[in-house]
Amino acid sequence: MPSALEAPPEWAELRQKCPVARVKLPSGDEAALVTRYDDVKSVLADPRFSRNLNDPGAARIIDTESGGLFNSPVGNILAAEGHERWRRMVGKWFTARRMAALRPGIEATADRLVDGMLEHGRTADLVTQLAFPLPVWVICDMLGAPESDREKFAHWSDIAFSLTGHTEAEIDAAQQEFTAYLTDLVDGKRETPGDDLLSELLVATDAEGRPMSAPGLVATAQALLVAGHETTASMIGKMVALLLADRRHWERLLADRSLVRTAVEEILRFDPNGGFGLPRFLSEDAEISGGVVPSGTTVVCSMAAANRDESAFEGAGELDLGRSPNTHIAFGAGAHSCLGQPLARTELQVVLDVLLRRLPTLDLAVEPGELRRVEGLVVGRLEELPVRW
Ligand code: HEM
Repeated sequence: MPSALEAPPEWAELRQKCPVARVKLPSGDEAALVTRYDDVKSVLADPRFSRNLNDPGAARIIDTESGGLFNSPVGNILAAEGHERWRRMVGKWFTARRMAALRPGIEATADRLVDGMLEHGRTADLVTQLAFPLPVWVICDMLGAPESDREKFAHWSDIAFSLTGHTEAEIDAAQQEFTAYLTDLVDGKRETPGDDLLSELLVATDAEGRPMSAPGLVATAQALLVAGHETTASMIGKMVALLLADRRHWERLLADRSLVRTAVEEILRFDPNGGFGLPRFLSEDAEISGGVVPSGTTVVCSMAAANRDESAFEGAGELDLGRSPNTHIAFGAGAHSCLGQPLARTELQVVLDVLLRRLPTLDLAVEPGELRRVEGLVVGRLEELPVRW
């Protein structure tokens, strides 16, 4: 088995010889895995490949009864808002200007977490001490929740992913608690608006002058936590691991901080642990790479494999921190591509800037080959990242 920092060798073989491969999902159900850059991009942009995996014919991804905290209720509420309409309303918040305004706060948060690492001595697990708390704190601030409630958000998010194996009753209780909390938070913002996403959405209207419904606002907050926490946390861990596994990369950034932006993009592209990819359900026959894929197939798009496609990226197997342009698809493509990508980019850039400034002697405390990936996830992550400085 390749280490958590090596791309699975079968990616290259599949891209070359078997662009639509029959695979078994973690649940045991079968799907068609797509690995070429052009194919993944066009499948994600093609509405015939739908995100509706509730179809009785669709494959189950992971064999679990509960399927996580926010699965259907939130999905249904957002669908009722109308996906395009919802995206336009929420997307307005993620402007470049807003991201620039958020930067100092994110930096202060990262600094605080690094202070915490330093207080503990000269070694730490970067995943638990920095990568996991940072994005959840950022989402809390973005929604305008008080700092004192950050731990509650971390708890709800943890249960959403059932990282530590929660019972159905615990998941239901957490969901109810979180919904009640957010309903109160939204009511509070109605009375006393702040400079935050929920306050802005409360007064926002669509093209017909209609506002978002109250359940829609609550579901939006839940969706942003689910979509924006684990993804960003995992990427922070993998980013630091990749840069330290071959310390020449770290040294290059120390010598030239202006590379941080392109370095973040390149790491998003290079991610050797991207999970198994995005599932889509096909309810009519369609063509991929010249072959017919029959109606009723669940197609899994491996963005990570596509991002290593030599036909799209010269020297695709090399981590080139100055790569530009970099048209990776780590944030997906098409109508559902990542709405929070400007925020994700900002967080990754800030974390990297802060680590380079505060912990220039940072190094792995284990051999790169000892790092373990958590298996069977849509978005891959590292179990832990022991570092020293
Ligand atoms: C490095 C971090 C992140 C990665 C790699 C990532 C990746 C993705 C990908 C691949 C999708 C497409 C899902 C699909 O097509 O089925 C997506 C969707 C989404 N992401 Fe992210 N994401 C990240 C961070 C964030 C953050 C920080 C937020 C907001 C707080 C966010 C909010 C969303 C939302 C709302 C969607 C759904 C968009 C839609 O369905 O229209 N993501 N993300």
